[in-house]
Amino acid sequence: MIWLVGRNGMLGTDLGRAFTAAGLEWVGTDKEVDFTDPAALEAYAKGLYAQGQSIDWVVNCAAYTAVDKAEDEPALCRKLNVDGPACLARWAASHKAALIHLSTDYVFSGNGTTAYKEDDPVAPQGVYGVTKADGEAVIRQLCPQHYILRTAWLYGASGPNFISTMVRLMSQRDSLGVVADQWGAPTWTMDLVAVVVALIQKGEGLWGTYHASGEGKCSWHDFALAILEEARTRGLVDPAKAVEVKALTTDQYPTKAKRPAWSVLSKDKLKAAFGLSFPHWRESLKTFLAQEYRLHNPKTLLVTGGAGFIGSNFIRHVLIKAGFNGTIVNFDKLTYAGNPHSLSDIAAAYGSRYVFVKGDIAETADVEAVLAKYNVDTIVHFAAESHVDRSIHGPGEFIRTNILGTYTLLQAARAFWGDRQDVRFHHVSTDEVYGSLGDTGKFLETTAYDPRSPYSASKASSDHLVNAWHHTYGLPITMSNCSNNYGPYHFPEKLIPLMIGNLLSGKALPVYGDGKNVRDWLYVEDHASAIWAIVTRGRLGETYNVGGENEWTNIDLVKFLCTRLAEVQGKNPEEYLKLITYVKDRPGHDHRYAIDCEKLKGELKWTQSVTFEQGLEATIRWYLDNQAWVNLVTSGEYKNWVDKNYTTR
Ligand code: NAD
Ligand code: DAU
Repeated sequence: MIWLVGRNGMLGTDLGRAFTAAGLEWVGTDKEVDFTDPAALEAYAKGLYAQGQSIDWVVNCAAYTAVDKAEDEPALCRKLNVDGPACLARWAASHKAALIHLSTDYVFSGNGTTAYKEDDPVAPQGVYGVTKADGEAVIRQLCPQHYILRTAWLYGASGPNFISTMVRLMSQRDSLGVVADQWGAPTWTMDLVAVVVALIQKGEGLWGTYHASGEGKCSWHDFALAILEEARTRGLVDPAKAVEVKALTTDQYPTKAKRPAWSVLSKDKLKAAFGLSFPHWRESLKTFLAQEYRLHNPKTLLVTGGAGFIGSNFIRHVLIKAGFNGTIVNFDKLTYAGNPHSLSDIAAAYGSRYVFVKGDIAETADVEAVLAKYNVDTIVHFAAESHVDRSIHGPGEFIRTNILGTYTLLQAARAFWGDRQDVRFHHVSTDEVYGSLGDTGKFLETTAYDPRSPYSASKASSDHLVNAWHHTYGLPITMSNCSNNYGPYHFPEKLIPLMIGNLLSGKALPVYGDGKNVRDWLYVEDHASAIWAIVTRGRLGETYNVGGENEWTNIDLVKFLCTRLAEVQGKNPEEYLKLITYVKDRPGHDHRYAIDCEKLKGELKWTQSVTFEQGLEATIRWYLDNQAWVNLVTSGEYKNWVDKNYTTR
């Protein structure tokens, strides 16, 4: 098994996805397991070993990477770039695991004129480079079974990057300046990730240091010109717009830390040892833009239902992970299921880029006001009544919000946008519209609708309205139908958070009917990344199914949850398993849902980023750490507080 350290960073995010796609077993940690603390590493690993898992590879993407800030924070930079790698190297060596560590071209002086080879002397110029070189040295000393991969000019979809900055500036300005006397080769994270996966798949081998960066060479100025050309071809920058890209010298673009003037790395050693090579940087730029870059570039997103479970996770994902530069308006009625506290940290961190507006999607005045006030160009529509059991007992609200609300939103969007095609309306829907499956088969986007509960009937109606507004009025829409989500901020009436809550308070675990109904579970952040991919790159008028490819009968899932929670808490699972209680079945209970998401995976290169074991463990830990959130959202006091503090418009 692989232990990915720094899983939330730009490279870590893509590595996690690639491990999953390659069928490699992995676990990931980030700030929650301090890699500079040997005791924290040992405690985490002990938990894994106690479950019978063992680590063969440690992949370290964690680092201090703010090159200029490093000059003011040398101690912190050293802690993350030297002490952390030293701890990992010691841990790996003592547990017979191999270590893959990411390093940088900044270890060299930058005064070269030919491509640097791995054994050229290091001569770093600033705090960042010095600490990365020292980090390499401690690994060589402490963990013989290592690959140190030096890369350069890395860019990826999961982080702010040079390409998206350039495209944005080129769309906004007539002129910009880019340094033309620093040379290197841009490296796409996905190319580097492919090399890491290949090294792991090849197994143990010719340990040592290897250069791993894009093929070819260019200056930052050349790179910017290539971006402009490709962006124009793809319509990301208006082809008719004149944009001057001025060539600057390093002196004209002073930075606190010195950048190497020459960063070109020779990849001969990697090729000779493993037959691995990188595409030319220009080819990768094209592929990146085609696969990862936005066809639609939202500036102001209106997220309806953004205080709910999936909506709040989506907002978090878009602001923190997706490199979105614009503003998000969270428009939510704050029903029992909506909780503005779920995003209080986001509100504090993002200032005017995150706005909360209390409003009802079924009220034309509320909706029209918010669209106009914030000049919204993209709507991502989550707001709904979402709980099947509630729809059985009280369908009225479902008809009002899910059908009338969606209609109101569509009409307001149409009125506000007119014929504009540079806007998007994304509708979030459910696999339940397709009905119930037997023991085999999966739902495709083309499966006929067959909703069977008041909830699914109301969602199916809203889907039909959205499609009709596209075909009849030309509204630029996309749509997604997703399977059961789980993860943080899930209201404790749905299966997984309800069971966790009951387990923690020693209550019975109510399993409906015979417990043999099957659901396909998806980690909520993977749903968020799928929606972002569809909103920014999906084809207009298309529906994409989103699923976890992770089917469980309810009874097996509840048993697994009991066992995992007991393990995390160091308890006897029997204590929990005995709480399982079969109860009267849900009326009209659909037998099985299963999603075929090949269209999304093939067209938009989306994939799930975590296994169920990983996602469930993260969820369990989140609920253990956030009992206050659960108590708040389930208390009557919360509703009073909302009524007092939040008034419409
Ligand atoms: P949720 O119940 O947690 O959140 C719904 C949010 O909508 C809440 O914040 C609520 O306050 C808000 N809301 C309700 N009525 C409103 C109104 N009239 N005006 C404005 N806001 C209103 O739901 P969720 O689980 O986050 O689901 C979000 C969307 O995803 C829904 O459209 C649902 O049908 C769909 N979906 C959910 C799942 C799942 O497993 N949870 C799976 C597939 C699809
Ligand atoms: O498939 C997507 C849908 O998933 C979403 O569209 C819905 O918004 C969302 O609520 C969810 O619907 P389900 O009805 O599948 O989810 P729920 O968590 O309510 O139930 C999951 C399964 O567990 C279902 O077969 C019913 C069963 N169950 C549920 C609860 C709450 C129990 O056995 N006991 C329970 O107490």
